[in-house]
Amino acid sequence: MPTVTLTVNGRSVTADVDSRTLLVQMLRETLHLTGTHVGCDTSQCGACVVHVDGKAVKSCTTLAVQCEGATVVTIEGLAQDGKLHPMQEAFREHHGLQCGFCTPGMIMSAVDIVNRKGIVDEATIREELEGNICRCTGYHNIVRAVEAGAKAMVSGTPVRQAAE
Ligand code: FES
Ligand code: FES
Repeated sequence: MPTVTLTVNGRSVTADVDSRTLLVQMLRETLHLTGTHVGCDTSQCGACVVHVDGKAVKSCTTLAVQCEGATVVTIEGLAQDGKLHPMQEAFREHHGLQCGFCTPGMIMSAVDIVNRKGIVDEATIREELEGNICRCTGYHNIVRAVEAGAKAMVSGTPVRQAAE
């Protein structure tokens, strides 16, 4: 059985995994990081998005062994020192969720969008989030949340202040 060593949310972890083990399985079942969700298992819904070496990836279609030596950040790793990440704060402020099932993947994708593109307009957000499906919200508040989160991330000011 291959051994995989990676850094997850700042912590070095080593695990024996089957060569077919998916990254999402390793995160949820071995490391008990259940914030990363599985909505489809076929790369459709985006509920499983995490960051691998700074890029958003669907962890349901990534093998754990492919991540040997990589740095992985999950939704559990976004908040720092007990403070929500600005994008998490923006989703809370703008009611960007209902049941919350899609939310971890939405937020990880949104952070990736801002990391790559900075402040983005509504059309770009909608296009960039096409790989993330939400069954509840109708997307409107998610888009508002990403707009606000982007402003807060780029300006370094709290969500409410960045919106003024
Ligand atoms: Fe990965 Fe749906 S669980 S895209
Ligand atoms: Fe329920 Fe998006 S909030 S699926």
